[in-house]
Amino acid sequence: MSATGMFGRQVVQVLAQQGVPVRATGRSLARLEPLRAPGVELMAADMDDPASLQPLMQGVDRVLVNAPMDACKQQRECHVIEAMVRAGAQAQVVLLTGGVEHNDALGDAGRAVEQAMSDSQLPWTTVGPQTVMESNFYPFRDLIVGNSLLLSCVGEAQVGFVALEDVSAALAAVLTASVEQHHGRDYVITGPQAVSFTAVAEAASAALGRPISYQDMPRGAFVDMMLNEAGYDPATLDIEVMCHLDAFRAGQASRITTDFRQLTGRNPTSVAQWWQANAAYFLG
Ligand SMILES: NC(=O)c1ccc[n+]([C@@H]2O[C@H](COP(=O)([O-])OP(=O)(O)OC[C@H]3O[C@@H](n4cnc5c(N)ncnc54)[C@H](OP(=O)(O)O)[C@@H]3O)[C@@H](O)[C@H]2O)c1
Repeated sequence: MSATGMFGRQVVQVLAQQGVPVRATGRSLARLEPLRAPGVELMAADMDDPASLQPLMQGVDRVLVNAPMDACKQQRECHVIEAMVRAGAQAQVVLLTGGVEHNDALGDAGRAVEQAMSDSQLPWTTVGPQTVMESNFYPFRDLIVGNSLLLSCVGEAQVGFVALEDVSAALAAVLTASVEQHHGRDYVITGPQAVSFTAVAEAASAALGRPISYQDMPRGAFVDMMLNEAGYDPATLDIEVMCHLDAFRAGQASRITTDFRQLTGRNPTSVAQWWQANAAYFLG
């Protein structure tokens, strides 16, 4: 599911490179077209339209269940699991969850989907990225290029940032193993250590060859800036940004696991390695 999104696109590409047949889906065939490759079948469906999901389930043995992070996430992911049950094929649910602990609406939605998954009697595995470096650092491009600045409101909270490429590799490892190997397992995919935004700025400075500063703002001032200068509406800001930063500040994103190494046999990408690999994007 969500094959045109940040995670789905990479997972489709990794599976195709491995020669694993994959059905890639989103709402628009035109948006799916760039994913066309040998072994990749493109099929349009809408998670808001349960009937459209039924044809997707024919002949598949795993489904990566993943809906965008908005107020419809729970309903859309439940629609997918219900379509899998109706198909009657006992395919495995591979649920993309969150590795950060959320005591908020996002956490409630995630727990409801996990309950639906467990109630479905289908084999299942959850894969929860701690929090992805691309999501956290790419939005700072203009601020870094123009002002050599990273901004947030999480103080010196430690965060186990993980690279998107590592999450895709972990998902591909689960999707290509035997169902029995990972059934009932909850994996949390993290970087090698939890670091503060000050340490992130140091890694960015080393990679970009000039000083990048971290400026910690009071939460209220940060919210005002996002609403008035970055153009967010309050609901989107809450679900896409603030509930994550609040969890970071509360120390709920600091967990480090060895699950990535267990699934792939490799060490996860560090923040310093990520900035070295992505420096060109921030050089203007
Ligand atoms: N970023 C992180 O650090 C992080 C960490 C842990 C978990 N997550 C989880 O990752 C998920 C988001 O994944 P992402 O970042 O890959 O998403 P994304 O880049 O925002 O892409 C959204 C995807 O959803 C598809 N989509 C939207 N509405 C749809 C509908 N009604 N029916 C079918 N497809 C629909 C879009 O496809 P079309 O527009 O082409 O239809 C697109 O492929 C969230 O559930 C979030 O909780 C993110």
